[in-house]
Amino acid sequence: MAQSTLSVIFLIFNCFLFIESVPTTLETPVRYDGAQLWNVSLSDEQTRKIVFDLENEFDVSFWRTSNAAADMFLKKSVIESARQILNENNIEYSVRVEDMQKHIERESRQPYRDGQQNYGLTWDAYYSLNDILLFLDNLVEKYPNLCSLETIGYSHENRPLKVLKISNGKSGNKAIWIDGGIHAREWISPASVTYIVNDLVENWNNQPAYIQNVNWYVLPVHNPDGYEYTRNTNRMWRKNRSKGSNSKCFGVDLNRNFGFKWGGKGVSHDSCSEIYAGSGPFSEPESTAVADFFANNTENFEAFLTFHSYGQWILYPWGYDNGIPTDDAEELDLAGREASENMKALDGQVYTVGNSADLLYPAAGASDDYGKSIGIKYSYTIELRDTGRYGFILPPEFILPTAKEAHTFVHTIARIVAK
Ligand code: ARG
Ligand code: ZN
Repeated sequence: MAQSTLSVIFLIFNCFLFIESVPTTLETPVRYDGAQLWNVSLSDEQTRKIVFDLENEFDVSFWRTSNAAADMFLKKSVIESARQILNENNIEYSVRVEDMQKHIERESRQPYRDGQQNYGLTWDAYYSLNDILLFLDNLVEKYPNLCSLETIGYSHENRPLKVLKISNGKSGNKAIWIDGGIHAREWISPASVTYIVNDLVENWNNQPAYIQNVNWYVLPVHNPDGYEYTRNTNRMWRKNRSKGSNSKCFGVDLNRNFGFKWGGKGVSHDSCSEIYAGSGPFSEPESTAVADFFANNTENFEAFLTFHSYGQWILYPWGYDNGIPTDDAEELDLAGREASENMKALDGQVYTVGNSADLLYPAAGASDDYGKSIGIKYSYTIELRDTGRYGFILPPEFILPTAKEAHTFVHTIARIVAK
């Protein structure tokens, strides 16, 4: 009797603990057993039509498309039908990832130190938000004269949006903004941004003047709710995790929610879409926090660098529509190409430079255009590795070489800014 009462109390107590500490993990993780990534060639208009129609007919999603080919992600249940349609129409394709679930498990089996109070990150694994925030705290503790943290706002689920400032405090410094992780599943982005931060800070005394005389502001995880959701529940999630009272589905694409040209091309007003722009400009706390930060900050920002994956592109504004170059597009192109050459020298990887709407697709309400619209000259979206071999699920052995490319990009832009 006494024992069963005790165990009931224990059970109730446990439930409370569980509910309080990890609300998001209560959702059953989404599995991708047998799901595949295909690369489909797009030889002509008719082929394009047949291929893109698959999205309306079945549960397939396009991760990346170019003029020549499309990366198509297919759940197991649709593979046979899709194969049939492509075969009937003589459309060529190759299977890039055979079983996405196995691939995801391989990725996540890497060690990570959630809660183990080991502040040093290593760039051979992907870390939790908690580990990344501990890493930032630790830098401030270790280098209080160089580093400070500012919480610029809170996500929909109340996670802090922490910006690390790195500055030697000299007056007349220019400022550079860097963010990562606006899209949840693009894990290589926060991983690369933390690498950049670590290198800046740990090697500060050996940095050239064009690095030291800059006030750096870095937001490694712009979309913390989405990031944790990809770790705990659905690896393929892109958006944030808010849900309007009139919305059917969760999530706003934060990179369609910024207030410049909001609601224009390349967006959706359907809450279930991956590119849902939200109920209005800056409807989301994560995008609003960044806009408020810039509204309240009087520094002289010269660069706005936002890291994504994948595709290996260096993109500059305007991105809200085709054929709209900025006045200084040539300068941005030149700087981008210089960065691209320096990146190629590292490991042979090619990053293609160009206007984001013309090279990729128009997308209104993106943060790069917002940065440009408030007068920040060197505004870029950098799409990191790869070009479709693995897509978003980039195996951990590629973190370090990719992060080094991102680091070289930042160095190049900082050098150009200093001129
Ligand atoms: N892959 C990024 C996205 O879809 C690219 C954004 C580029 N910027 C732009 N304004 N088009 O959000
Ligand atoms: Zn992205």
